[in-house]
Amino acid sequence: MSISYQCIDALSPYCPCYLAENQSCIICSILRGKDTCDCIWQGSCIYQEYIWNGKRKKEPRKVIEAKIKEKKKVTKNLLVYKVSLSLPLSSIDYSQPGTYVFLRSANSQYYFEVPLCVMDVDEDENTLTFAVQIIGPKTKNLAQEDNTLLLRGPYYNGIFGLKHIKSTKNKKCLLIGGGIGQASLVLVAKALHRGGNDITALLDPGAINYNLAMDYLNSLNAEVRIFNRYDSLFESLLQQVIEDKGIEMVYSGGSDLQHNLVKSAVMRSRRKIALSFSNNAKLCCGEGICGSCEVSIGVEKFKLCKIQTEYQMLGR
Ligand SMILES: Cc1cc2nc3c(=O)[nH]c(=O)nc-3n(C[C@H](O)[C@H](O)[C@H](O)COP(=O)(O)OP(=O)(O)OC[C@H]3O[C@@H](n4cnc5c(N)ncnc54)[C@H](O)[C@@H]3O)c2cc1C
Ligand code: FES
Repeated sequence: MSISYQCIDALSPYCPCYLAENQSCIICSILRGKDTCDCIWQGSCIYQEYIWNGKRKKEPRKVIEAKIKEKKKVTKNLLVYKVSLSLPLSSIDYSQPGTYVFLRSANSQYYFEVPLCVMDVDEDENTLTFAVQIIGPKTKNLAQEDNTLLLRGPYYNGIFGLKHIKSTKNKKCLLIGGGIGQASLVLVAKALHRGGNDITALLDPGAINYNLAMDYLNSLNAEVRIFNRYDSLFESLLQQVIEDKGIEMVYSGGSDLQHNLVKSAVMRSRRKIALSFSNNAKLCCGEGICGSCEVSIGVEKFKLCKIQTEYQMLGR
């Protein structure tokens, strides 16, 4: 099966990237070592950008210091950090749905970096909010920090099917958030609210035992219902909400198990429904280099930190 995809960074301030210098560009065949251009990319020419930039990558994302402004222990395994950015007005670069960063505490090595989605952005305060489920060595290490975090980002591929969130206007949307996956719902809900959409949300407190997105969703006038992913009635509840409300767009933020239940419910509906999902790949570099996020589909290999596609295409 051939899958259609774009590069999330194509023609962003970070394009061309390391992959162009290494003859591995996802979009441009010439920057993949071929003699001819066979790309079907409709934006400006990435090869041209590369030449104009002196046959070099653009300036890559840097590691910056972020001062902790607030640190709240919400439940025994859930922390919420609000951090200030020192570069004025820079929080706006983190405000689109699906944005994530790599965070670690100031005195730890680079291999303690944790990919975390940006839960909320306050552009007036120039702050970012993150929610952390304390689970293993990296997040336990992060949780010990009270003063300064090291932040690498912004990265934008935290959601597959981003185009649906950006293009949906005046429609009926359903957001499903399971456990810490609820952190990704907030920027999605804000974008959909700006687009005049009507939002219904299903939230499962899951392993963090808390509904993180509840207050945000209430402030956006969303209708919120609580569910339990392990409840045998969840699938029928999902189906009922999709049909009774005439849902036209669905976002699932949570585990792959949740994504698959959501995908099945949408497929059972006879209507055309747009779908977006949180990206649950193992992410280490975010740059398409380390290979930790790579999946094979047929004979092709794809880096899930870079490609923007429909979750259904990935068959996870
Ligand atoms: C795009 C994205 C956004 C995320 N956003 C959040 C968030 O907002 N809040 C939050 O608490 N967690 C988030 N996560 C998950 C978080 O990165 C992992 O829970 C964390 O890396 C676990 O590390 P650990 O050493 O504490 O635990 P471990 O015991 O090492 O791992 C616990 C679980 O996390 C998985 N994991 C470990 N390392 C990674 C990695 N580098 N990338 C992805 N999964 C990993 C493991 O496979 C295991 O399932 C996000 C993950 C991704 C990919
Ligand atoms: S996270 Fe390193 S290649 Fe995708």
